[in-house]
Amino acid sequence: MDFLTSPLLPGLIQAAYIGAAILFILALAGLSKHETARRGNTFGMTGMALALGATLVLAARNSQYGDQRPLLVTLGLIAAAMAVGAAIGARRARTVEMTGMPELVAMLHSFVGLAAVLVGFNSYLAEDHLEGSLATIHDVEVFLGVFIGAVTFTGSIVAYLKLSAKMKSTPLALPGRHLLNLAILIASALLLAWFVPVDGNLGLVPLIAMTVLALVLGFHLVAAIGGGDMPVVVSMLNSYSGWAAAAAGFMLSNDLLIIVGSLVGSSGAILSYIMCKAMNRSFVSVIAGGFGSDGAVSGEARDYGDHREVQADEVAELLADAKSVVITPGYGMAVAQAQYPVAELTKKLRDKGVDVRFGIHPVAGRLPGHMNVLLAEAKVPYDIVLEMDEINGDFAGTDVVLVIGANDTVNPAALEEPGSPIAGMPVLEVWHAKDVIVFKRSMATGYAGVQNPLFFKDNSRMLFGDAKERVDDIVRALG
Ligand code: TAP
Repeated sequence: MDFLTSPLLPGLIQAAYIGAAILFILALAGLSKHETARRGNTFGMTGMALALGATLVLAARNSQYGDQRPLLVTLGLIAAAMAVGAAIGARRARTVEMTGMPELVAMLHSFVGLAAVLVGFNSYLAEDHLEGSLATIHDVEVFLGVFIGAVTFTGSIVAYLKLSAKMKSTPLALPGRHLLNLAILIASALLLAWFVPVDGNLGLVPLIAMTVLALVLGFHLVAAIGGGDMPVVVSMLNSYSGWAAAAAGFMLSNDLLIIVGSLVGSSGAILSYIMCKAMNRSFVSVIAGGFGSDGAVSGEARDYGDHREVQADEVAELLADAKSVVITPGYGMAVAQAQYPVAELTKKLRDKGVDVRFGIHPVAGRLPGHMNVLLAEAKVPYDIVLEMDEINGDFAGTDVVLVIGANDTVNPAALEEPGSPIAGMPVLEVWHAKDVIVFKRSMATGYAGVQNPLFFKDNSRMLFGDAKERVDDIVRALG
């Protein structure tokens, strides 16, 4: 086929790759704001379609040279792999609950890690024509790619198991665990020194040995991180998966994969940093797997006194008399799918002249931006949805706070109890408001397993039951 052997084709493929890379950058920029997120997604999808198209043409072109397999076989194999992947992906995307997104994302990160390991081994076994410094550079790329990929693979599987409650979120606190991590890093460096100068397939021995060590390291790093710090782990693994993809790009000499991997890697790293700052955790300590923490998992069982209950019609009266209301949603709103009645309640109150705003904690729910997505889905206006820092100073002047399915993110123990596993994490200081209504089904603890003294404060009352049903009751009572 003339088109495939045309000397212009490599340039066109590079141009398509540059176009795709620009679209990915625009996608990331768009995704940083509510208002432009949809447009960002469209840029991302267009970029991915362009990248896939260009890669297919590249694969077809390569099959025209050397002793590669026939064009139709190459395209047939790619089409079959894409069809299987697309069918599974489309089915999962359609069926996944919003509450199941974090574990799905963790699972997807593990695939990127596994792909980098497989590409690394394949690239090592297939490349025998490189010599001198080029061979050394390629060996280092393979070694680092497999290392990052293996850490990402097992780390993401542990994150998946913890997020889906198939494994306890309690941190695994092995004695000398930091020394174990350090020993694995040193052993891997020594294996690299063995691997690079070895000729032929003999390098497989240090490569396989390092892979096993990296798999153990990935497992151990994430297993050592406790429930409350899991948000940082999710974004950190996101970053690792980006670096693993970039490493695969180096191994395959694919510029687009290098660019996209670096974009994902650095945006994940920036997100991890923002999360760490929001949770008042040190970046290094989280990356090192609970470094500096003593592995505490639950606060002291204290007697905070009795809690008081309230009924939906009493809350409706309180709201009707209020001038200002702040709603602080959490994971329970996602579980109950209460965002739609919450949006209806907001509209009703605003129509009556009540000033209603939302306070969003950076780690509320189970995904970065989880609450923002739910509220946007229910068409709550963006301008009344405020970040924790923007609203924390306003609670003292607020009449009623509705805590809808939030727990850890409104827990005063984070500020008042230095020994608590969530100590130091900034929280929404809802207890400064005149009245606080907590929507939940029981007195159970939140994700971090810490009892919440907010529930026992004089100005707090519990509205028990499913959040969606209770908000529906209030909407009905308001008439
Ligand atoms: P959580 O501390 O997880 O508490 C959620 C509360 O919702 C629970 O106490 C639960 O109490 C209640 N609930 C569950 N289903 C409900 C329903 N159908 N109706 C009413 N209430 C319901 O929530 P949060 O304040 O959003 O905190 C998030 C936690 O997750 C933090 O510890 C954070 O570190 C962690 N985390 C966050 C992320 C990200 S990136 N956001 C990722 C991983 C982990 P009942 O069972 O009594 O109803």
